[in-house]
Amino acid sequence: MLSLQRSDWPLLPNIHFLNHGSFGATPYALLRTQHEWRLRLEQQPVQFHLELPSLMAEARTHLAQYLGCGVNDVIYVENSTFGCNVAFHALARMVDASSQIVTTDHEYGACIRALRNHVGPTGASVVTVDLPIPIPSRADVAQRIIDAFTPQTRAVFLSHITSPTGAQMPVEEVVAEARRRGIISIIDGSHAPGHIALDLATLGADIYTGNCHKWMCTPKGSAFLFVNPQVQERVPPLVTSWGMDGTGLRASAFVDEHEYLGTRDPSAFLTVPDAIAWMARNNWPMVQLHGQHLVRMAVDAMVDDGLGVPVLTQAAERTLQMDAAVLHADVDVVALKKRLYDHYAVEVVIHRWKGAPIVRVSAHAHTTQSDIDALRSALRTELL
Ligand SMILES: Cc1ncc(COP(=O)(O)O)c(C=O)c1O
Repeated sequence: MLSLQRSDWPLLPNIHFLNHGSFGATPYALLRTQHEWRLRLEQQPVQFHLELPSLMAEARTHLAQYLGCGVNDVIYVENSTFGCNVAFHALARMVDASSQIVTTDHEYGACIRALRNHVGPTGASVVTVDLPIPIPSRADVAQRIIDAFTPQTRAVFLSHITSPTGAQMPVEEVVAEARRRGIISIIDGSHAPGHIALDLATLGADIYTGNCHKWMCTPKGSAFLFVNPQVQERVPPLVTSWGMDGTGLRASAFVDEHEYLGTRDPSAFLTVPDAIAWMARNNWPMVQLHGQHLVRMAVDAMVDDGLGVPVLTQAAERTLQMDAAVLHADVDVVALKKRLYDHYAVEVVIHRWKGAPIVRVSAHAHTTQSDIDALRSALRTELL
């Protein structure tokens, strides 16, 4: 039995909310914690800012334990778009016109845009590995990415879980090979924290950014950037503020230079430790099983109804709280998405990626069987 239910979230009761993946959803309990931090700040803003470095250090300690990394190797950032921008800003200082950066055609559009904007002026080329839809086996995907490495490859940029296709990428294999060849690995883990097991020390990526505000359900604007100590010196802050000349704890140059970016609202960062405790109290493995079961059922139903095929060709690899189906090629995705929302109150991702019409379903503790049934019934009515 789940201890959490739909009424623990402010989500509108009349909407079948099957898109937790895009922006997460925060329960009342964590919104209250955030509100308490904001009140505490506003009661004595000057005193609060004097205490802020140690409050942030404590919040980083909890996050670092959760992620399996050193407390001074991770900083809070507002979102993983920001984290990626810090990484690419640094990367632009490490490459030149002879360099190649390997990525795939399943990455998040805004991050690819950031990659091109930062490294474009250096003349380095971005090599995009073609991953077909439906997606082949994990071993095949890893091989395709590794096959793109050449002596000119300086970096690889890869999502841990893809946004357009909801697939877990073989980051362990790719990072290990990159490390062996001296290639910098930059991982976009936007969908990973709270969703799949993470141990950053074991993974060994050079740079890893992830959102807490998706699957950990923390308030919007809570994400992190991990940088391996061996690379930290080569990763300057994107925004210059007081840095080492400020009132930080001098625990590490990396933290001091990146953490204080001028006056901003730190309440979402400070809520993360409470979120980690809330997840533990609410039997997170059970929450994950619940979501995995529901999304698998949703995609299996589309297959049974003859509407499409799973986006992942290997059934054993469909293990996330997001699963996706590829519909028949002639489906008008824009019209279908609108009809599902307007006529059936179903909020779900329906889009075209690499020419393939894709339905991506996400489920969390607030998702119920009736949400999945509503999606099935709507798709049957519209497409059969
Ligand atoms: C793979 C991936 N990367 C980056 C992002 C951007 O996240 P944010 O808007 O929190 O920066 C997303 C958002 O959905 C994503 O799915």
